[in-house]
Amino acid sequence: MGHQNERRESSSRLRRLLASAPLVVLASIMVVSFQNCDGGFHYSAESGLSSLGPSGVGDDTFKLTTFDNFNLVVPEGRQFLGGIEYKVEASGSALNGATLMWALPSNTGNCILKSGTTPAVRFIQCDRSGSVRIQATAILADGSTSVLSSERTTGAVVVDNCSNPPSTRATFRIVSGTGSNAWNTSVAPVVVFLGQTLRICNDDSVPHQLTTGGNGCANQAAPMANGAFYDCTIANRNNLDGATGTFNGWFDTAAGANARFFVRPLDGQALYSDTTKTSNGQSCASCHNAFANSTKRGSSFTAIKNAITSNRGNMAIYNGRITDDEIRAIAFALSR
Ligand code: HEC
Repeated sequence: MGHQNERRESSSRLRRLLASAPLVVLASIMVVSFQNCDGGFHYSAESGLSSLGPSGVGDDTFKLTTFDNFNLVVPEGRQFLGGIEYKVEASGSALNGATLMWALPSNTGNCILKSGTTPAVRFIQCDRSGSVRIQATAILADGSTSVLSSERTTGAVVVDNCSNPPSTRATFRIVSGTGSNAWNTSVAPVVVFLGQTLRICNDDSVPHQLTTGGNGCANQAAPMANGAFYDCTIANRNNLDGATGTFNGWFDTAAGANARFFVRPLDGQALYSDTTKTSNGQSCASCHNAFANSTKRGSSFTAIKNAITSNRGNMAIYNGRITDDEIRAIAFALSR
């Protein structure tokens, strides 16, 4: 079950086919000639992994083995996860001088088959829940054909709305196991910039819901389940705690006022003209125009940081007085 292993000794039939059907001739020209089946990673059935299922289909003469993106064997019967590229490799003593043809005779998993580094290797990637059969047909040196195939169920691509955020977005994940505890601590608050969107993702198994009291962004209207997210765009810096600079009144509605969430909003535009961040009462505005027509629009964190460190134009007046997060906030404001 799950795979098929049929071998046909049909050299005369194949020769008749080649002689009579021009399409088959064309197909045989198009297939890549098989060169060398040695040198790849060879899985040993004695390694202990066999308890997970057969390591491949076929035998020492002709075998198909599948590997994941860590080059570990994916035993027969194991599902192909959505969006992951798997390597399928043909190996075996019978393949010397053989020609290999690859196909997906059934494919409801929306899988694509990609060329490998050698004719004996193919890559396959699926993105839908279903199944797929990968088939390798070897035309052996003696003219006979041998067919091997492996069938797998396939999974859909899992969309993680919290991965790879754009630079304009901050991300916070409510970690698994948070339950009714605080989401983070006041000593390690999430730093966000005015105008930036803070995406809060629920990686916990239980629902969570953010209360803000309207400070920063709106209250979350309803609890979010595992896997869901809430986009909180920081519109103001109302009601900040004097000591930590974090929003007062932010907590998990679902768990109560003790389940705090500490978020420190920084205003890059205000910091640009903040005269308390230098040793001599100057600000960026003193030397680079007012914010609205700054000569440093679009400057990156690195450029500003380096200018301070290397004392460009006496900018070392910021040394020890401005934090990296504050410089990031200024860079964010200058990039908008
Ligand atoms: C005392 C005047 C002064 C202050 C204050 C000042 N700069 Fe500068 N800055 C300069 C001068 C002079 C240069 C070199 C000429 C130029 O690039 O404009 C410079 C260079 C830079 C550069 C270019 C660095 C590079 O790699 O070319 C950036 C970016 C910059 N400043 C950003 C800022 C920001 C942001 C602030 C506020 C946090 C700031 N500067 C505060 C005078 C100042």
